[in-house]
Amino acid sequence: MRRAKILATGMYVPDDVVTNDLLAQVMDTSDEWITQRSGIKERRVIPDTYRMLTQLAAAPDKEAYLQTLYDTGIDGRIGAQMSTADLAFNATQIALRQANMKPQDLDLIIQTSVMSDYVFPGSACVLADKLGLTSTPTFSLNQGCAGFVYALSMADQYIKTGMYDTVLVLGAEVLSSLFEYSDRGRDMSVLFADGAGAAIVVPAEDDEPSGLLSHHLHTDGTLLDKLYADSFGSSTFPPAAKARIDTDRARPRMAGRAVFAQAVRRFREVIRECLEANKMQLDEVDHFLFHQANQRIIDAIADSLGIPSEKAYTNIRKYGNTSAASVPILLHETLQEGRIQRGDLCLLAAFGTGFNWGASLLYW
Ligand code: UT7
Repeated sequence: MRRAKILATGMYVPDDVVTNDLLAQVMDTSDEWITQRSGIKERRVIPDTYRMLTQLAAAPDKEAYLQTLYDTGIDGRIGAQMSTADLAFNATQIALRQANMKPQDLDLIIQTSVMSDYVFPGSACVLADKLGLTSTPTFSLNQGCAGFVYALSMADQYIKTGMYDTVLVLGAEVLSSLFEYSDRGRDMSVLFADGAGAAIVVPAEDDEPSGLLSHHLHTDGTLLDKLYADSFGSSTFPPAAKARIDTDRARPRMAGRAVFAQAVRRFREVIRECLEANKMQLDEVDHFLFHQANQRIIDAIADSLGIPSEKAYTNIRKYGNTSAASVPILLHETLQEGRIQRGDLCLLAAFGTGFNWGASLLYW
């Protein structure tokens, strides 16, 4: 049977950097709290969010500023300058350049995001338009922070069956437009941020070491209410009420401690499952590429399984939690820094809303 491999990767994060100190100017938080609880020092956001945060920091009455913002937008403008598909496009360009390909060489695009450009269609359609593609099939997944592992597993199946040869897999997020930058929203808004990562998946040659080995995916819907955003879905009725949702309902909700505990448990389970399925030992893995949700979650997994820190590189300090984008951003950055060599064994694992979680094992 054909095997698939990742041929090229790309990433994009917006230029604007939001430090913990800037957040402390707009809400009751501190660099110390954010750093100790999550390991995050700064994150990247779209220009719209950055402009909002700097205006909010300077506003004498922050509640009044937020109310005006929700009613009229930034400087009277409703609508973002940069969306999920824009970030995905920029990451795609880098991956395409690395692969020496053009958009027309792609047989399929699988994009995964929590935050789509629109309610419908999915951001993959918006991206296809930006890439100038008029008949290449696309689909959009919403599997939360675990999305990239899910999407990668699907690309693998399409290549194994021979249906497609070149699949673009993307995790892209503009999460900063979802959260409220206030005392009410501080539990989540300090953690999440914007970014995109891309991978181009192609068939591996028979004699080369590179290739995807297996994927292990899970969902536990019973814990859905521990991390979710319900305000603009079909559960909201009548439709007109969506425009008048009070701010408390409009914000996503998270039971941080419950998510933390589940994440550590599920990461450990799925790592073991993945290794057992391949009859491999933990110390055979050269690199663990974990979803960047919280440095403490990664440390807890590494400590309990005995993974040395140099095998579990992290970049959450710089980018925060970029949800579906975090694993491909980490993969691209780790590769760019020359840490991964041809033939190295890599284990990718992610966990998030749903709860959805999964792992992929591959030889680079
Ligand atoms: O991709 C998966 C997505 N989600 C996650 O991975 C989240 C997993 N959970 C976590 O990362 C952690 O639970 C958090 C970082 C969210 C919170 O850390 P924690 O150690 O579990 O803190 P906590 O929720 O127990 O809250 C401690 C206190 C509370 O105050 P009181 O009730 O003790 O007075 C919060 O109100 O910290 C308060 N708090 C904050 N204080 C300053 C919550 N958010 C903030 C904030 N700044 N931004």
